[in-house]
Amino acid sequence: MRAQALEWADDSIGLVPTMGALHAGHAGLIGRAMAENERVVVSIFVNPLQFGAGEDLARYPRPVEADLAYLRESNVDAVYMPGVEDMYPPGSSTRVVVGGVAEPLEGAARPGHFEGVATVVTKLFWAVEPDRAYFGQKDAQQVAVVKRLAADLDTGVEIVVCPTVREADGLAVSSRNVYLNPDERAQATSLSRALKAAGDAYRSGERSPAVLASLMRSVIEGEPLARVDYAQVVDPGDFSSPGTLAVLAVRFGQTRLIDNHDLAQPYPG
Ligand code: PAJ
Repeated sequence: MRAQALEWADDSIGLVPTMGALHAGHAGLIGRAMAENERVVVSIFVNPLQFGAGEDLARYPRPVEADLAYLRESNVDAVYMPGVEDMYPPGSSTRVVVGGVAEPLEGAARPGHFEGVATVVTKLFWAVEPDRAYFGQKDAQQVAVVKRLAADLDTGVEIVVCPTVREADGLAVSSRNVYLNPDERAQATSLSRALKAAGDAYRSGERSPAVLASLMRSVIEGEPLARVDYAQVVDPGDFSSPGTLAVLAVRFGQTRLIDNHDLAQPYPG
């Protein structure tokens, strides 16, 4: 990958990091990268380091042939698909640890998750040396963590954030949606309904993060199969002080879904 990237030293390079199982959310990132760069690299790597014990690493979907067929059609310039042994050869032990913004919410719920994300993203940046890298607003805290590391490690990589792509009924598109049974899938619209309800309340003048959070919680708790992991309204810079970013994590059985919406922005659609 480095040798190929060096051949493109005179071209602008956009990198789209993914774990594969490509869907409309990834397509949005790839389309934006294609529009803004002379070369586009899509990486596919199901990163074991960012999965906790008891998470879904083993069953994470890996439809490699379909992904490659889609990427061939999309005319991206390269697909970087390292194996686990390439990324983490025996003895590899260096980790990138982001403080502050990586600690609350997803960081607290999934110990080691952002360390895994930060480590693999740093390695991808070294392999590709992109001018820009594309991330989805769907994973808002990941965006904040990656922006932090990109700045702190002097990468010079511009982090481009793309809007969350949703199904027609509002559910944020995710590789993990395939885990939902039909009842869970129907009730999963409660995340986007809760965010929209909070947005409506915000526009009507409600500014209390606690009130807005409990409003979201009550929408989700109206669904019998939903278990709220967290529902908060936080600052999008630090994810801990009060702000306007509504963030949700909700479990349906073994499946954990996240979503978010900046209440200061109109709700899309
Ligand atoms: P993955 O879940 O495959 O997501 C790859 C990128 O697609 C991320 O930036 C994610 O935010 C974005 N994305 C996912 N669903 C989206 C949606 N509905 N709308 C818009 N963007 C969406 O996130 C990861 O992989 C990994 O943590 C990774 C960054 C690749 C590091 O391993």
